[in-house]
Amino acid sequence: MGLTTPDDLKHLVLHFTKGKAWRNATLPVYVRGEGCYLWDENGRRYLDGLAGLFVVQIGHGRTDIAHAASKQMEELAYTPTWGAAHPPAIEASKLITSLAPGDLDAIFWVSSGSEAVESAIKFTRQYHRSQGNPEKTKVISRRLSYHGTTMGALSATGLDSIREQFQPLLPGFIKVDNTLGITDGVAAAQQVEEAILEAGPETVGLVMAEPVQNSGGCLVPPDGYWPELRRICDKYNVLLLADEVISSFGRVGHWFGVERYGAVPDMITFAKGATSGYAPVGGLIIRRGLVDELMDSENGTFAHGATWGAHPVVMAVTIANVTAMRDEGVIDNVLANEDYFRARLDEVAAAHDTVSDVRGTGYFYAVELTASVEKGIALTEDQTNELVNDHMPGLIADAGLLIRSDARGAPKLVLSPPLIATREELDELVGGVDQILAGAAEIDLG
Ligand SMILES: Cc1ncc(COP(=O)(O)O)c(C=O)c1O
Repeated sequence: MGLTTPDDLKHLVLHFTKGKAWRNATLPVYVRGEGCYLWDENGRRYLDGLAGLFVVQIGHGRTDIAHAASKQMEELAYTPTWGAAHPPAIEASKLITSLAPGDLDAIFWVSSGSEAVESAIKFTRQYHRSQGNPEKTKVISRRLSYHGTTMGALSATGLDSIREQFQPLLPGFIKVDNTLGITDGVAAAQQVEEAILEAGPETVGLVMAEPVQNSGGCLVPPDGYWPELRRICDKYNVLLLADEVISSFGRVGHWFGVERYGAVPDMITFAKGATSGYAPVGGLIIRRGLVDELMDSENGTFAHGATWGAHPVVMAVTIANVTAMRDEGVIDNVLANEDYFRARLDEVAAAHDTVSDVRGTGYFYAVELTASVEKGIALTEDQTNELVNDHMPGLIADAGLLIRSDARGAPKLVLSPPLIATREELDELVGGVDQILAGAAEIDLG
C-alpha cells in the first residue's frame, strides 16, 4: 500500500475533526509504536507526549499484552456477563477493586469512558429509586468539564461548543464553577452546597467531578475541595462520583487520582489507562454498600447492560496491563520524576512571555498561552482559534511531538506522556514545547 491520500480517507469519518483538516493531504497517519514513540507512514518518529489520548500509560508495542489478548482469544473469545461470568472478568474485577480506595469494591464493566459515566447516572437514578427517593435525579457537574459524548454524559459535560449541536439535552443537569484560579477549596466546594439547596436537596442525586479537570487546563483541586464535597454529599444524601477517566491508573501518581485529594467517593468511573489502549475499556466502581442496597431492594437488578461489558479479551488485557504496571513500578516512575518534569516546564515557561500559567501534577500538565504576560495582553478569540487550529498542528509536528493544543477556555498545550517516560524523554518533550513556543512567538496573529 502506498502513502495515504485524501481520497483514501474519505470513507473514514474522523472524530472531533474539522472538515478542512479531514480533507488535508498532510493529516498524520501513524503506523507503528514503541515505548514513548510513534512512527508515521513516512517513517518519521514522534514523541507521544499525549499518550495517545491520556491512554498509553505503559507505552506502545508491548508484546506481552498482545500475547495475553491472543491467548484469551484462542481460549474463549466471547461470552457475555449477563447472568453468567468468566475467569478474566472475575480476576480483573478483584485486581482493580483491590487497588481502589475505601469500600469501592464492585465493578460494572463497559467499553468507554462515556458509557461508564452513563452507567453512573443510571445507577444513581435506580439506586435512589430503590431507596424510596425516585425524585433524586438531578446531577451537578462543573463548567468546562468533559464527561463524554453519549446523551447523559454530554448533559453533564460543561462545554457549550459540543453541547449546542445536540439540544435539547437531558433536563436536570446543573453546572457550578470549576476551580480555575480558586485557592479556597472549601469555599469552592460550597458552591455545590448552594446549588443543592437551590435545586431542592430532595431532587439532587449525584455530584460528579474529575479529580484533576482536563478541560480548562489541568485544574488541580485546591486543598480541602474533595473532603468538603464528601461532607456536602453525605449531608444531603447525594452520591459523589469521581470521574477518573483520565486521572486514574497512574496519570497523577496514584492508581486513582482522588487518593491524592483526601476523600473516598461513592463511585469512580475509569477507562483509558486501565488497558493502556491495548483494548477499549470502561468501568464504574461502586461502594459495596450501595450495590448491596440496590440488589437487596424489590426488583433488585441493575437494569442496565451491554453486549461488550467485561469482554474476555479486554479483561485479559486489563489484567496484563495493570499487573505489568504494578510489577514494573510504573507509578513509582511518575512519583520519582514529577517534580523534575514540573521544574523543567517552569523553566521553559519563564523563558517565554507568552506562557501565562503551567498547571497540573504527575504526568499531566497544561501550558496556558497568552499574547504577552509582561504587557498584560490576552489573545482574542479569533487569535486563539487561528493559533490553535491553523498554526499549532504544524509547529507541534515540526517539533517531533504528538501533544494537544486546546482552545477550550484560554489556549493551551496539553502534555500527558506515557507513564514510563524517563527524564531524557521528558527533556525531549519539554525541549519540543520550548521550540513550539519560540515558533508561535514568530507568528503575526493580526
Ligand atoms: C473525564 C472524562 N470522562 C469521560 C470521558 C469520555 O470517555 P470516552 O472518550 O472513552 O467515551 C473522557 C474522555 O476523554 C474524560 O476525559
